[in-house]
Amino acid sequence: MILIAHLTDCHVTIPGRQIFGVIDTAARLTMAVRFLNGLTRRPDLVVLTGDLVDRGLPEEYANLRAILAGLEIPFYLVPGNHDRRDALREAFPDHRYLPRSGFLNWAVESEHGRFIGLDSVIPGHPDGEICAERAAWLDDQLSARPGLPTFLFMHHPPFLTGVEALDELACGGADRLAAVIRRHPQVEGLFCGHHHQPFVTQWAGVLAVMAPATAQQMVAGFAAAAEPQWNMEPPACMLHRWRRSSGLVTRVATVEPVPGPYFFGTVIDGDKVNAAA
Ligand SMILES: [Fe+2]
Ligand SMILES: [Fe+2]
Repeated sequence: MILIAHLTDCHVTIPGRQIFGVIDTAARLTMAVRFLNGLTRRPDLVVLTGDLVDRGLPEEYANLRAILAGLEIPFYLVPGNHDRRDALREAFPDHRYLPRSGFLNWAVESEHGRFIGLDSVIPGHPDGEICAERAAWLDDQLSARPGLPTFLFMHHPPFLTGVEALDELACGGADRLAAVIRRHPQVEGLFCGHHHQPFVTQWAGVLAVMAPATAQQMVAGFAAAAEPQWNMEPPACMLHRWRRSSGLVTRVATVEPVPGPYFFGTVIDGDKVNAAA
């Protein structure tokens, strides 16, 4: 049996700065760490699928590192569009699975399964891409270990959600990635983040799951909004359990209740918020 905790979109800031002036992302990630440490059946590993910090600053990564030092479970990091590759690797030099240059693709394995992080970042862009080089790397990795159930982690969703405003920020090269996954039946699931709300779909023959954020959540639904609308629902994560007999089962786990009201408005000018009535 494999139990994976999947966190995403932590957007940790420098100490004292709150996103939109109201969201203490460091405190919310700390809640998630406390939650995972307290689980009766602890996950075998934790994977954080990007937007680990908010602005890619070394000081933010130092804060992230300090918070994650409290996590009593092995954890692995995937970059998102808010991350900076070099600042990330410099903050975690002991994470030797991270390549010292180039894309932050990685693969690790246990006796039960294999876990692969895919770097979907295009520096300076909110959307992502699996280019030919990254797809070829994945194809090689999957070809090398065909017998182990394998789980893929990336920041940008390669699937469309049906929400136009979100799908503009999806992952380019999705067809290329899908073709690789379809060639390797040991791939059991694909886990991502980026939209700050949960979505689940069947994609390229596998279960594809987007986790909610530990930071601000996006107001859920399928209606297209001209401006993103955010809320302060409690931080959450996903727990993915895999067994050979029952396959992949996944659930949303609220990390810790926080007082409402949750909906607070529409983002204007980056950090300013038009508070909801
Ligand atoms: Fe994010
Ligand atoms: Fe993102």
